[in-house]
Order: sequence, then structure tokens, then C-alpha cells
Amino acid sequence: MAQDKTKELLERGRAMYLPVYAQREMILDHGKGARLWDIAGNEYIDLGAGIAVSVLGHQNAELIQVAIEQMQKLWHTSNVYFTEPAIRLASDLVKNTFAERVFFSNSGAEANEAAIKLARKFASFHSSSEKHEIITFEGSFHGRTLTTVTATAQPKYQEGFGPLPGGFTYCPFNDFDAIEQQISDKTCAVLVEPIQGEGGVHVAKPGFLAHLQALCQKHDALLVFDEIQSGMGRTGRLFAYEWEDNIQPDIVTVAKALGGGLPIGSMLTTERVSQVMKVGDHGSTFGGNPVITAVAGAVLQQVCSSVLMDNVKKQSDQLQMGLKELQQQKKLFKEIRGKGLIVGAELQEPWEGKAAQLSELCRQHGVLILQAGPNVLRFLPPLNITDEELQEGLQRMKSALSRV
Ligand SMILES: Cc1ncc(COP(=O)(O)O)c(C=O)c1O
Repeated sequence: MAQDKTKELLERGRAMYLPVYAQREMILDHGKGARLWDIAGNEYIDLGAGIAVSVLGHQNAELIQVAIEQMQKLWHTSNVYFTEPAIRLASDLVKNTFAERVFFSNSGAEANEAAIKLARKFASFHSSSEKHEIITFEGSFHGRTLTTVTATAQPKYQEGFGPLPGGFTYCPFNDFDAIEQQISDKTCAVLVEPIQGEGGVHVAKPGFLAHLQALCQKHDALLVFDEIQSGMGRTGRLFAYEWEDNIQPDIVTVAKALGGGLPIGSMLTTERVSQVMKVGDHGSTFGGNPVITAVAGAVLQQVCSSVLMDNVKKQSDQLQMGLKELQQQKKLFKEIRGKGLIVGAELQEPWEGKAAQLSELCRQHGVLILQAGPNVLRFLPPLNITDEELQEGLQRMKSALSRV
């Protein structure tokens, strides 16, 4: 019965959805903590958290309570009006980060879009429209709108969508000399992920962000960090860039984890940079919706707690240890890398290019993992994953992968 229903729903979904996703052979139904169940009753350990979103796991009691209380009061107002949850979230973001001003969007791409518009406006206001170039990095991922996919320096995401917006140039990631050659007085911003997520879990080399900062200062360009995947506690600090000393970004974008599973993004910036924007220059109907900002406020509070950050460190060590044990048995990986609970395991021959098959095998053994391109298995578990959930997940993964 359940099998038939799964099959029927998959067929219907596949017949009607725009065919841009490769949905797995199950229909998820409910979750609790780091566990998920499908409609056929199969249980999975969730080591992907909906691509770094469900940071506090599924059915988090506090988030449910906050959401229900706000839903019983007010769902939506538009940005013609303020609401208290949105103002509280803005205050908490300002209190806990470098930021003095925030803009709320519904997604990561929109947060980056706001950052790109702000950088262009800032340059045209203080210099001229000639100063419009934005440098991003090979292997980056910044979103799927036409402009953010142009910022995304991976041709596979851009093919067939031209003409693309102009003014973007690409530089090799972690190449100190190349960026020095490329940046100029025409550069208005350098946009970078401190840890490239979709591009294969590549961490910025020590000193790379400081190098970018110095070059941006020299050329009067804004330093923009895309922390949509790496931020909100994923590395054990609120933002991944905070692992490097004395870094002062001009703009940081966040999304994914901020809503704990509800859609929200935010662009954070300084008073100085924000002042070029005036009423009507940018906006969003839903951005900063009261229900989501109430929930995001509760997420941020937990992410700022040392208890959660200590768990990230502890579980990161356990995850890395589990992957190393698997490596000793099977020699699957060329490299295991990452920081905190964003971890990538790059496959080596004969498994190169088989990340999709291996993650499907894991799913069949009751553990959900992600891939980052064809060669990298990616792990982004909930930040509050327990010892027991993680060990169970690792066990299932070992039993799946020991068969290959
Ligand atoms: C670093 C980074 N930036 C931007 C985005 C786009 O976010 P969204 O899918 O919410 O638009 C993503 C999504 O994976 C991301 O990882």
C-alpha cells in the first residue's frame, strides 16, 4: 500500500514539476531531531539538514511554539508597516554582528541580489558608473537568479541563459596573486564565500580573506561575504569569516539556517554603506514576514549560545573521525576537509564522479547525505545533532559504503 502510494506520488510529482531537480525515491513525511520518516515508514538520519537549513533539527519544540504564537497573531503585513518580531530580529542581528543595517529577503539569492545592487549603487554614488565590476571566484555558488547565477562562477549553471548581466569577472579561489592582478579601480566589490559549499567544500586559505580586505581597501571596493551556507554557526562561530582575525566586511549575506526551515534571507551591512539607498531603491513583498522573523529570532538566540557551538565542535570531531575510519577500511576519499559541521569528502578513483550513486546507496541504508558536484560527498547535519543520532548515521553510512 505505502509502496504504491510512494510510486504514485513520485509519478505525479515528476510529471508536473519543472524538471530541474532529481528527487530521490521517497516522499518525506515528518521529522524529529535529526531523524526523518517517509510515507512508507522508513526512517533516515538526516546529515544534510535540507542543505544547511534545519540547523535545530526537525520539530524543534521552541521554534514550533514561537511560530504558533505569532501565527495566531499576525501572518503578513508587507514592508509598508513595521512589525515587532522583524524589528527584534534586526536588533539581534545588529547586536551580534558587525552590521548596523539589515535588509530582509526570502532566499539566499535575493540576499545576494540586494548585496550586488547595494555595491553598484555605492560605487556609482561615490565614484562613477564606470566602477561597476564585481569579482567572484571560480567554483563559487551565489544563487539562481540571472544576476546571482552570473556571479556564480561555474559555467554549468549559466549555459543557455544568456545574455547574462555584465560586469562580473572571475578569479581562481585562494589564489593570492591572481586576485591582486585582477582587482582594479573599476572593481566595486569582491564577493566571496569564506567556505565554498556547492563548489566542493573548499575553505579559504589562512590569510586569504585578509588579503582580499587589504586589496578592497586599496581599490575602494566593498568586501562582501556570502555566508549563506557557511554562516549561522555552521563552523562553530556565527560566521565562518570570524575564524580569521581582524576582518571587517562591508556586507554579509545570510539565509538558509536563519529561518531554521522557513524561508528568509538577510543582507547585513554598515551604516556608511547603507546610506546610498533611499526609499524605493529596493524591496520585497514578503521579506521579513512576522512569522518567519519571530522564528529566526529564536534560531539566532540558540545559534549564539555556547552550548550549541560546543556541540558543533564535538560532533565535527566525531564526524571527521567516522569518515577517517571509513577511509581506513575502504580508501574511498582523496581528501576530507571542511570546518565545524560543513564537511566534504572528495572521492578518489574508482569512485570519482560517483557522489550521486554513493549518496543514493546511503539513503537506501537509512542515512541522508548530500553531494557537492559529482566528486564530493557533503555533510551538513543539524547543529544540535546528538551523539546517538550522529553515531547511528555514521554506522548506517559505513554499512552502505562498505558494500561498494
Ligand atoms: C553560498 C550560497 N549562496 C547562495 C545560495 C542561494 O540560496 P537560495 O537557494 O536560498 O537562493 C546558496 C544555496 O545553496 C549558497 O550555498
